[in-house]
Amino acid sequence: MTKRVAVITGGIGGLGTAICKQLAKDGRQVIAADLGSRQERLAAFREETRAFDGSIVFAPADVSKFDDCAHLIGHIADKYGSVDIIVNAAGITRDTSLKKMSEAQWADLMHVNLDGVFNMCRNSVAGMTERGFGRIVNISSVNGQTGQFGQTNYSAAKAGMHGFTMALAREVAKKGVTVNSISPGYCRTEMVMKVPEDIRAQIVAQIPVGRLGEPFEIARTVGFLTADDAGFITGANIPVNGGYFMSF
Ligand code: CAA
Repeated sequence: MTKRVAVITGGIGGLGTAICKQLAKDGRQVIAADLGSRQERLAAFREETRAFDGSIVFAPADVSKFDDCAHLIGHIADKYGSVDIIVNAAGITRDTSLKKMSEAQWADLMHVNLDGVFNMCRNSVAGMTERGFGRIVNISSVNGQTGQFGQTNYSAAKAGMHGFTMALAREVAKKGVTVNSISPGYCRTEMVMKVPEDIRAQIVAQIPVGRLGEPFEIARTVGFLTADDAGFITGANIPVNGGYFMSF
C-alpha cells in the first residue's frame, strides 16, 4: 500500500517538528508546511529530521493565504499523492491585554490561527470525502478552553477551532473522514518560553504534573487520532495539559 500523505502546518515549529517525526514513524509521507522566510528555524528542522530521509519534506506556504493553501495542496497531489491527513498546527501569539490590543494584533492572529484552518480544510476536504478516508487534527489550546490573561485574541481563535472541528466532523462523518482537536497545555516550545519567566513559573506551579509538557507528548496524541483504525473518534477534543485544566 502506498504511504498516506500527511501535511502539518506550522510544521517546522516546536510542536510541528515533533508531529512530523511522529507521523513519519507511523509510516506516513510527511510534508511540513511553514513560512519559507523562517530560514534559521528551517535549517534546524532539516538537521533534526535528517534521519528521516525523504519521508519528511518541507514545502513553503503561508496558511493565512487561501491561494497559498490551494497551491500547496495541488503541489502535494502532483508530487506525492492526494492529502489524507491534515494537522493544523500553525499558530502565533500576540499577547497583550484587550485595552492595549491593536486591530493588527487581533487580525494577524485570526488570519493565521483560524483562517488558516479554513484555508487548509476547504482546499482538501472534498478530495478526502471522495476517496472515503481522511484525518484532520486541529491543534487548539487549553487557553481556548479556560481563557488566559492577555490572550483574548488567541483564546477566541483556539475556542473557534473547536467549533469548526465539531461542525466539520458532522459534515464528513459518513465519508470516512474524522475531524478532532487537541488542546495542549503549556509545553516546552519557543512560544511558551517567550512568556516572561516569572509569569511562566506561576503557570507551571498550577500544573498538577509539576512540569511543562514535552512536544512529543502532543505528537503521540496526533499519531493516535490519525491512525487508520481511529475512525470512531470524531468531533472530539483531547486535552493534553498535565492536569492544568480538568473537565469532562
Ligand atoms: N493575571 C492577573 N493580572 C495580571 C496578569 C495575570 N496573568 N498579568 C498582568 N496582570 C496585571 C498587571 O499586574 C497590571 O496590573 P496594574 O495595572 O494594577 O499594574 C495589569 O494586569 C496590566 O498588566 P500589563 O500592562 O503588564 O498587561 P499587558 O497588556 O502588558 O499584558 C501580558 C501582560 C504580556 C499578557 C502578561 O500578562 C503575560 O505574558 N501573560 C501570559 C500570557 C500567556 O500565558 N501566554 C501564553 C503564551 S504560550 C501559548 O499560548 C501556548 C498555549 O497554547 C498554552
